[in-house]
Amino acid sequence: MSGSELAVGDEVVVDVGPVAHGGHCIARHEGRVLFVRHTLPGERVRARITEGGAGDRFLRADAVAVEGAAPGRVSAPCPYAGPGRCGGCDFQHADLATQRDLKTAVVREQFARLARLDVDVTVEPVPGDADGLRWRTRTEFAVDADGRPGMRLHRSHAILPVDDCLIAAPPVAAALSGRYAGCSAIDVVAPSVGGAVVVELPLVPGKSVPSVVESVRSARLDREFTVSARGFWQVHPGAASAFVDAALDVLDPRPGETALDLYSGVGVFTAALAQAVGERGRVVAVEADEEASTHAKANLTAYPWTVPVRARVDDFFGVARPKRRGPGPRRAGKPAARHPLAPPSADLVLLDPPRTGAGREVLVAVAALRPRAIAYVACDPAALARDTTYLRELGYELSDLRAFDAFPMTHHVECVAGFATVV
Ligand SMILES: C[S@@+](CC[C@H](N)C(=O)[O-])C[C@H]1O[C@@H](n2cnc3c(N)ncnc32)[C@H](O)[C@@H]1O
Repeated sequence: MSGSELAVGDEVVVDVGPVAHGGHCIARHEGRVLFVRHTLPGERVRARITEGGAGDRFLRADAVAVEGAAPGRVSAPCPYAGPGRCGGCDFQHADLATQRDLKTAVVREQFARLARLDVDVTVEPVPGDADGLRWRTRTEFAVDADGRPGMRLHRSHAILPVDDCLIAAPPVAAALSGRYAGCSAIDVVAPSVGGAVVVELPLVPGKSVPSVVESVRSARLDREFTVSARGFWQVHPGAASAFVDAALDVLDPRPGETALDLYSGVGVFTAALAQAVGERGRVVAVEADEEASTHAKANLTAYPWTVPVRARVDDFFGVARPKRRGPGPRRAGKPAARHPLAPPSADLVLLDPPRTGAGREVLVAVAALRPRAIAYVACDPAALARDTTYLRELGYELSDLRAFDAFPMTHHVECVAGFATVV
């Protein structure tokens, strides 16, 4: 069959090339590019087209039969993993070492392509992770029309009811035995302190979401934090501690310094920075979410030299908001007035933005503070690599890069990067 005739449901045998960002590998058939899931580089597989057709730049496909397996392939430990099934995990068919090799290749490729930098990084396990299973302490499960919890199929709204999830921590997986009539989803949290909490969605108007207590037990910080059961907290129990230590190793804060913690959530990095700079120092923490910001204020009372500010980071600096994505007219938001608590300079800046990254405008404002070091915690290596380009244009060089396997069995990877001024 010629490449231009390929359509959903067709099957072709392909030789699989390198891994690409997003949990799939690249293959070619008669000049067409295929993004194939459930396969590994170097394999020969029968690929079934799942999305795309004539005129599309690429097609998506699932490997439905393996004709030549690569070393590193294993049978998926989870019975719900595989072509056409649960869309939650991408790499159940690879052993952990191979999963980390795939993520290492993705981080290196993103930096080479988007930042034009060769980076010598190797994805590390999060301390305490033994086999990549039973780690996830926060999960949203979809609920079907019969009240059964489950997972959505890959790139679909269809729900596959499941009675276990092998990457979920046991108290999270236990919620799967319940029935949730009338709910569209459940958010399940197994916090560091106390029992599991199940939040039924949609939220009942007027009913408040419970808070939970999470802890960081690391070389740099030993503290508990109150956070909304639906608020942001790292989902791997070892992740927050690992990232705090990695980010502070990059910044190496000194007593008396001024630091900014941007996208600060409930104040995890703020507390670690506050402890390091001491009471002669100052840490300004900027977070947009009202609930997280309220929790940050309470979590940081032990450090009166911290200044939690509820604001969008772009508004805090008085720079334009990013262009609106999606359909409709593209417009940049009108810049707000620079926040009175935005300092004219800072010794250190830590950024931990959402998946979209910080973006150029924010980084220009960060560089204008002339910090001696910047730490950037990133859940998307593509956004980090793009923002690295901006920082290099602004006079900062990548000085450190670590990558963590904080989401085993999935394609996700967390990076902690350091930047310093070019002397
Ligand atoms: C990846 S989380 C990091 C939170 C915190 N650093 C931590 O480790 O717990 C990103 C945080 O940025 C916040 N956020 C998203 N967009 C923002 C913006 N434009 N300005 C400020 N905060 C934002 C989210 O509410 C979230 O708390």
